[in-house]
Amino acid sequence: EQIEKNGYDHFMLKEIYEQPSAILDTFRGRLLSNEGIIKMSGVEDNLQKFLNAKRIIIVACGTSWHAGLVAEYLFEDLARIPVEVEYASEFRYRNPVISSEDVVIAISQSGETADTLAAIKLAKSFGAFVFGVCNVVGSSIARETDAGAYTHAGPEIGVASTKAFTTQITVLTLMALRLANAKGTMSTSEYKKFLFDLESIPNRVEEVLKSDSIVTEISEKYKGVSNCLYLGRNYNFPVALEGALKLKEISYIHAEGYPAAEMKHGPIALIDENMPVVVIATKKGHYDKIVSNIQEIKSRNGRIIAIVTKGDTTIKEMADYVVEVPETSESLTPLITTIPLQLLSYHIAVMRGCNVDQPRNLAKSVTVE
Ligand code: G6P
Repeated sequence: EQIEKNGYDHFMLKEIYEQPSAILDTFRGRLLSNEGIIKMSGVEDNLQKFLNAKRIIIVACGTSWHAGLVAEYLFEDLARIPVEVEYASEFRYRNPVISSEDVVIAISQSGETADTLAAIKLAKSFGAFVFGVCNVVGSSIARETDAGAYTHAGPEIGVASTKAFTTQITVLTLMALRLANAKGTMSTSEYKKFLFDLESIPNRVEEVLKSDSIVTEISEKYKGVSNCLYLGRNYNFPVALEGALKLKEISYIHAEGYPAAEMKHGPIALIDENMPVVVIATKKGHYDKIVSNIQEIKSRNGRIIAIVTKGDTTIKEMADYVVEVPETSESLTPLITTIPLQLLSYHIAVMRGCNVDQPRNLAKSVTVE
């Protein structure tokens, strides 16, 4: 096992650090930025089905569901296709309205999650075209779907999903861009710029991994808390959910993710000097709005840990801690901002003496309902 961990203390840490190369593996043979081409046979062979789809329904569980939420922003924003994201466990039992005009995308690292598998079977029974985004080759979901794209993240051993999540987002970004290009919802120059931005993501992830020392310092400071709030807007709202899930899963600290503006409809009541609030506040998107959300937290004495774009000075003056990340297109920020949140949960869990790779009560693959 020590050999498999390749010098890292835990599989989770190894898998966090593998992300630059895992994302590159996801690109391999698909992202041809110089030619301005995205090649994904599962998408290409079924292009008309995607283009004619009245809507896309995404079904998944856990972290994969969070990747689905990022995909909702991607497909709607870039390709202008309406998207609904469903917990597979709810979808399968709630008598959903679904037809052969819908395209269903099922996202699953293991490809064995019982609820996701059942949701796929249900969608197929209504005649919908079902596309799988799986990591495990030859898994049940990969076999059950009509077509698909593998994430090629390599084996993920840590129960808390890390590289599987970022590679799922990578596949979904490639798909959204291909469809945007085919539908003409994006200009050619914009599309080409996106491809180059996407290609630079592995290097940017590598750069964010260097924030490990500041994240360790933050972890030391907050390892004893019992609650934590994560806020983000737009593309970074699902990242806030995923950051909170990671902390819950492995450190057993109660954490909630919220869209930043929703804070005033509830969680703001919890804020006091003992409450750390992790705010994803990159320069793109609704920056001014998030700055005013940070002010609201500050005026209630909340402790602010902000994920900011490199060189940001406004938030630096307001926050207790900042973690800087390199600038990229708004749509690609989840691939970057997720990384410090993974490291934060990892270090806090290690400092609390938790079993990081095998947290209590959780399983890597949930094959029962
Ligand atoms: C379990 C795992 C999670 C995972 C979820 C969905 O809860 O512990 O890490 O996100 O199942 O799994 P899947 O394999 O379908 O992505």
